[in-house]
Amino acid sequence: MANQASTSRRSQGKPRDADVPTFCTWPAHPERENEQKPQGKHTGEQEISERARYEQSSFAPSTIFGSGSVSGRTRYTRDAHSTAYTATNQSERGGREDMASVYSYNSSRDASQFVKEVHGRMFNSLNEAYLLPSDEKEWGRLDKQGSAMTVSFDGHLYPCADVVEAILDPSTPGEKRILDLGCGTGGWAIDMATKFPHAVVTGVDVAPTPLDMDTLPPNLSFEIDDVNLGLEHFHNQFDLVHMRCVMGGITDMDKTLRDIQLCLKPGGILIVIDGDQYLYEDKQRFFKIASVPGDREGGLADPKGSWLCRMIWEACEACVMAGSGMPRSREIIELGLWDSDLCDPVTASAGCVFFPVGPWARGKDLAETQMLQYVGVLMRQVFLNIHRAYHGILRKHGVPQATLDQWSKLVDIELNQSIRKLWVRFMYCCARRRSPDGGPAPPLPVPSPPVNNDPSQTREGRPSGEEIVYPEKEIYTSPEQARAKREQRLATMGFVPSSVARTSFAAMNQI
Ligand SMILES: C[S@@+](CC[C@H](N)C(=O)[O-])C[C@H]1O[C@@H](n2cnc3c(N)ncnc32)[C@H](O)[C@@H]1O
Repeated sequence: MANQASTSRRSQGKPRDADVPTFCTWPAHPERENEQKPQGKHTGEQEISERARYEQSSFAPSTIFGSGSVSGRTRYTRDAHSTAYTATNQSERGGREDMASVYSYNSSRDASQFVKEVHGRMFNSLNEAYLLPSDEKEWGRLDKQGSAMTVSFDGHLYPCADVVEAILDPSTPGEKRILDLGCGTGGWAIDMATKFPHAVVTGVDVAPTPLDMDTLPPNLSFEIDDVNLGLEHFHNQFDLVHMRCVMGGITDMDKTLRDIQLCLKPGGILIVIDGDQYLYEDKQRFFKIASVPGDREGGLADPKGSWLCRMIWEACEACVMAGSGMPRSREIIELGLWDSDLCDPVTASAGCVFFPVGPWARGKDLAETQMLQYVGVLMRQVFLNIHRAYHGILRKHGVPQATLDQWSKLVDIELNQSIRKLWVRFMYCCARRRSPDGGPAPPLPVPSPPVNNDPSQTREGRPSGEEIVYPEKEIYTSPEQARAKREQRLATMGFVPSSVARTSFAAMNQI
């Protein structure tokens, strides 16, 4: 087996969970239940180099080593015909003085360097601020969330589909390159590499990606790296940079945002997508969080509030205490890239999509209702899966296990009985990079034939003329619109109590 640490990657088909309704217009989903479990035994935390970059690729070595100089990193590479991952020094590969170490990556034994076990779940061991696990269960959750996202982008893998597809069109000049930061399961990167077989796709994650090397598209490679440490080696190279649901692990979004814009070629597009840490009652008003003893009522906390909302909010507070720059990240994504000096404001847009949690929402016709029920079921599963994963970070911040068990029990009841009608919001912003002289972005390329007309070639592909528009979305075409919507929502929040995580952490450390 090429990589024993990997799981065999995605069989096609819908999620097999009993309560996913049939909704055949939408793309197939991976059936993770069929997948092999990792064979290696994960050890605990191990010492790793300060900055390790590990690359999995089926590219020829010359392609793998095509990027610029990187200092202070060890780079782990699998070349085209080997089952081992080897970091080779500069003189052998040509032009990489910084690669002094030689390291052989082979199987789960080495993958375990990048993960650690906390209370029975596996977490990345490079980034303390990121709170979610990196294991089979989480990968299944991410695939479901990704599927809901594709539905909300009207069957596309991204917002701003016309612009993305014009930029990546094979009939326009130049090699096309796509970068997926915080790629998780690698699912989006695999789908993009399949949809755009002429493009070179790179996925980066702080944790190892579950892969079957034998079935990966040949135009795809993966690296292990922490985005917070800078991306200079990727500057000026990509037509599309995509970062979805990674803000929890980003410590300084202003810095990272600048860095990732610099990864774009002139005219290349940046897409950042992330979930809100609050849920909504009617897409405008925050859903109240369940109150606990000591909360002042009348604001965000309420005795009739939601336990799921409480738990998500508590986990995000803990994540911020661990170093995540989440609140600022959220603000940046919501307000869009109009003010960025690197991107052309004329090309900027922002927006958000809302998913019901559970199959309770109704659309204006059957097609819309089916769509909402489908994403509703997926999101309920996403949240049923996620709240126990928060226990690790909340325990670390002093919240007792008995409290967490009690909260989780109430969340399960809330979700399984569809007691609350909750909306979860995912926000996005997009813009294209300016010309090198700081002027407007180069004109959008004009493609000749349409991109990949054969729907059977992509998981998202549907024959043309079958466009179904996801109903629960907002698109902002100006910064004023984006700001007004943000302020309107924030005005409904009211007084925010001190979180149990903050109070427990303070008590634990006698602050
Ligand atoms: C919620 S998952 C989303 C995965 C994928 N983008 C998706 O939408 O399915 C976030 C991913 O970002 C990764 N991540 C978090 N912080 C990171 C960082 N600083 N650098 C690289 N990857 C990071 C995590 O390991 C995780 O796989």
